[in-house]
Amino acid sequence: MRTLVHLSDLHFGRIDPIVVDALRDTVRAIAPDLVAVSGDFTQRARSKQFTDARRFLDSLPTPQLIVPGNHDVPLHNVFARFFNPLGGYRHHMTGDLQPHFIDPELVVIGTDTTRSFTIGGGGIRRRELHRIRELLKDANGSSAVRVLVAHHPFDEPHAGKAFGRARPGAEAVEQLACEGIDVFLTGHLHVTFAGPTAKRYNIGGRSAIVVEAGTATSTRVRGEPNAFNVLRIDREEIVVEHLVWNAGAHSFAKGEVQRFTHAADGWRSA
Ligand SMILES: [Fe+2]
Ligand SMILES: [Fe+2]
Repeated sequence: MRTLVHLSDLHFGRIDPIVVDALRDTVRAIAPDLVAVSGDFTQRARSKQFTDARRFLDSLPTPQLIVPGNHDVPLHNVFARFFNPLGGYRHHMTGDLQPHFIDPELVVIGTDTTRSFTIGGGGIRRRELHRIRELLKDANGSSAVRVLVAHHPFDEPHAGKAFGRARPGAEAVEQLACEGIDVFLTGHLHVTFAGPTAKRYNIGGRSAIVVEAGTATSTRVRGEPNAFNVLRIDREEIVVEHLVWNAGAHSFAKGEVQRFTHAADGWRSA
């Protein structure tokens, strides 16, 4: 069994320091096998914001796998936005924009879905689809659970919020689920969600699990408190625990717990 902590949308520059401190303590106590962060480390891609985000990551357990979000690309500095959009991210966070983590039970692949030419939206690049496929091929024959980490959701499970999903989206989910991705971890919407893809599509007789994390530390919440996810991962069962900020208690508490079981046709809600 592997324990994976999934954080997203930290937004340093617009954080609540009390939440940040509690998050650090909570993640350390969980002692996960991997911390995955699905982007938006900063509010406006400023150096000070990246420095604070870097310091926070350095205080969390390792190993870590991180990908950038649209807020990690400068919005107002047009020169940087188009000529070096991820310069700050590369300098302060990591130069590795194609991260992966592989052990006998877990294959986790991160992909950069940010774009200079759109404000909120993103996309998965063709060459990234190719790289992901090659890594999946390498994992053939292993029973490791395959996880893809990206900032932008590939699909929009929240009715009425049709913005900011990755393009190509649903088609990429279909293809990658067919090719072996078990879990998609994303953020961006600041809304917590977990569900099997089979609810929305029939993917070649297979289904994966889509997990979205809310914002872990930003004061810019969308109708729900700060939150993050803890995944307990086995080949037969994946448990997704939503940890939710309790402002009265100044701590994160376990909220909804969702169980998924694996059958011949993929993952389904238990
Ligand atoms: Fe965000
Ligand atoms: Fe975002």
